Amino acid sequence: MDRVHTDSFAARLDAAAQDVAALLAALLSDMPLDGEIARPQQLMSAMRHGVLNGGKRLRPFLVLETARLLGGPEAAALRVAAALECIHCYSLIHDDLPAMDDDDLRRGQPTVHIAFDEATAILAGDALLTLAFDILSAPETVLPDCTRLALINQLARASGAGGMVGGQALDLQAERVSPDEAGVVRLQAMKTGALLRYACAAGAIASGADAETLARMTRFGDVIGLAFQLADDLLDVTSDAATLGKAAGKDAGRGKATLVSLHGVDAARRKLDGLVEEAALLLEPFGAGAGPLIEAAGFIASRDR
Ligand code: IPE
Ligand code: IPE
Ligand code: MG
Ligand code: MG
Ligand code: MG
Repeated sequence: MDRVHTDSFAARLDAAAQDVAALLAALLSDMPLDGEIARPQQLMSAMRHGVLNGGKRLRPFLVLETARLLGGPEAAALRVAAALECIHCYSLIHDDLPAMDDDDLRRGQPTVHIAFDEATAILAGDALLTLAFDILSAPETVLPDCTRLALINQLARASGAGGMVGGQALDLQAERVSPDEAGVVRLQAMKTGALLRYACAAGAIASGADAETLARMTRFGDVIGLAFQLADDLLDVTSDAATLGKAAGKDAGRGKATLVSLHGVDAARRKLDGLVEEAALLLEPFGAGAGPLIEAAGFIASRDR
């Protein structure tokens, strides 16, 4: 896993994706763990379908690169990265359900409720949510107990009613009553931003960072979180399903308020550029070592899927 700073961003992202996918594949085996009774095969297959299907693994990359920058332990950071990716994949499985965005395609493949059935997709999401907290709390995540507890507590807050799930609730409301710009920014900071913020904060917490460093990394996570959803909303308008691996044109189709629907594509692109600059400025004090994270901000804005 040791990588030299000169590796290209694409090579580093690819290596991080492979590392986290290998760990996730092991964690999603059919073999029950100590304390479990049995792992039903169809449920496990559905969980693997929703996780081991070629996501960009950007959140794991942010955990790993933040920990590397701050000198945190790599093996523990990889487990934190895997836990966070479980939450992210569960959020996608549920986001795609007929009662939510009703999507058939995800990461270029049939969504979990299409490949299996709705009930199995709901349960696969539930079990991934629980698995995330198993991974963090297990003794194999070798960190001081107080650090593990902080990681668990912050992940609960990033994922739950005051974070991702709350944002998804506001997002559904926004299909009926259009929020103003501040409302859109807030719901996006929750539905998407909270997990990206956690990625950066968790890398810092796992590294035993001081309060000032943690605050700076958290702010960086906030900024790239907003950039991430802004880019997602732009791609929804400007790209197509073949490129994205998921449906395009969904937001307008559902009358969803986004910064793109409120201000148009050009203004949204300018806003996105501003966020990338802001993100880079936040990491200036870290010097050259922050290069991969700054490149990640650029990637978030310029990605094509
Ligand atoms: C998609 O996230 C959902 C949003 C939060 C906008 P990603 O674009 O990171 O999806 P994957 O994991 O690469 O498929
Ligand atoms: C999804 O936002 C956010 C979460 C899954 C929490 P979107 O609904 O815009 O994501 P896509 O476009 O389906 O990936
Ligand atoms: Mg959605
Ligand atoms: Mg969706
Ligand atoms: Mg979208």
